[in-house]
Amino acid sequence: MISLIRALLVHLVVALTCLLSAIMFATAASAQSLQPAGWDADLRLATIVDRNPDPNVVEVDLESVVADVELSPGESVKAWTYNGSLPGPLIRAKRGDRLIVHFSNRLSSPTTVHWHGLRVPIQMDGVPEHSQPDVAPGESFTYDFVLKDAGLFWYHPHVLSAAQVGFGLYGALLVDDPDDSIGIPDEAVLVLSDIAIDGTTLESPDSGGSIGMVFGREGNRVLVNGRTRASMTARPGVLQRWRVVNAAKSRYFQLDLDGQPFTVVGTDGGLQEFATTSNLVVLAPGERLDLVVAPHPAEDGAELVLRSGLFNRGYGSVEYRSPEDLLVIRFSGSPVSERWQRTSLRSFGATADRAATTNVALELTLAQTDERTFTYGINGKPFGAGVVVRARVGETQVWTLTNSTKWSHPFHLHGFFFEVLDSLGKPVQPRAWKDTIDVPFETTVQILVRFDDRPGMWMYHCHILDHADGGLMGMVEVTPAANPSGHNDHTP
Ligand code: C2O
Ligand code: CU
Repeated sequence: MISLIRALLVHLVVALTCLLSAIMFATAASAQSLQPAGWDADLRLATIVDRNPDPNVVEVDLESVVADVELSPGESVKAWTYNGSLPGPLIRAKRGDRLIVHFSNRLSSPTTVHWHGLRVPIQMDGVPEHSQPDVAPGESFTYDFVLKDAGLFWYHPHVLSAAQVGFGLYGALLVDDPDDSIGIPDEAVLVLSDIAIDGTTLESPDSGGSIGMVFGREGNRVLVNGRTRASMTARPGVLQRWRVVNAAKSRYFQLDLDGQPFTVVGTDGGLQEFATTSNLVVLAPGERLDLVVAPHPAEDGAELVLRSGLFNRGYGSVEYRSPEDLLVIRFSGSPVSERWQRTSLRSFGATADRAATTNVALELTLAQTDERTFTYGINGKPFGAGVVVRARVGETQVWTLTNSTKWSHPFHLHGFFFEVLDSLGKPVQPRAWKDTIDVPFETTVQILVRFDDRPGMWMYHCHILDHADGGLMGMVEVTPAANPSGHNDHTP
């Protein structure tokens, strides 16, 4: 009897495997690259070896280490890297996979790894004291969690972040959606960043003192996948999917493809509700965009240059500056005109009942403590001085973020996605899951966040990392279940 069942099971497994490979072949056949061979060779990110044979587990070794990196032919610098490359290796997995990262610290300074945008348990969030102790030089730590959401995420330290991210510690984590319906085979992950170098060495992370902190220090080399003026060779008019992350510690990127349109299909937490088209798109530090483009030669030449234009993020951010070249697109092959016309991409649930939400008001502030010293804060208090928002698991809150300073702040919440609300208090269209949102100077933005589960002390902060280190950080304490008799004071 048992052997009969076993034989039946074997048959079933064989049949299923055949079915599966037929399906996989069908998708592979419909997803043929139309690009010239080696089209993205200059943009390739370092890879990482998955040493676990289980198809649903990605297990990798990651090490923070100082290494020589080449920014452009002939220009090298000793940067802080993950696995010797800048950016760190692209970690790739699919939604639902378990990710195990054996991390070791070969730097002379303590560090941690924070998984930006991922809904991980608090113990895996990389924040010293609240998640784990610092990983001391020579020590190791194993991160181990399930990837609940598809999208482009990224990893970076959460110890002296402005310095460590500025020195080169960041990498992309792409979680594929097995049911993804975009159907564009030619995809590039673009990690935008900058680095401040002085000859062949890194510039001090506290240049400009307190004033440098107030503005947010930007590097003097703008990088795409670790290269200055990176390039690709594209066939004119072929659709490409660009998965873009801004990993710079302070710099905003306003992307301009010489006026050619970007179709935005997703943001921080994967696909958005429907596609939108725009000639300029902006990524504040920490944000991601999922874009569809069909580059073709510019009118006045054979090449097309992706540039970052001037973007006003506050006092002193556009004066005496010019657009920066990011990526040079050269063309090869006969032009095609591909069309991509998907509108509806993802459905979102019913919007939260506003009567059942709790309101939290947070003001992003700047104070002068003496003639040359400034501190950012939340509600006038620098980090550590006690602003803690309280929330219960299952609770939905509306946070009103008022920026009363003269500089914009990309506000990032750890561990939970949120939706941005419009002036009527409705989710902005198209609906999208965000974990980082720009709060422009002297402006108010409202977000709606549901604390789905995972109790703990979670951080929120400005992702201009100089601002975060300068005091613009706070905590939200998410406690297990609602206590019917208990009193819950939401006033921070
Ligand atoms: Cu990418 Cu606490 O941040
Ligand atoms: Cu800020």
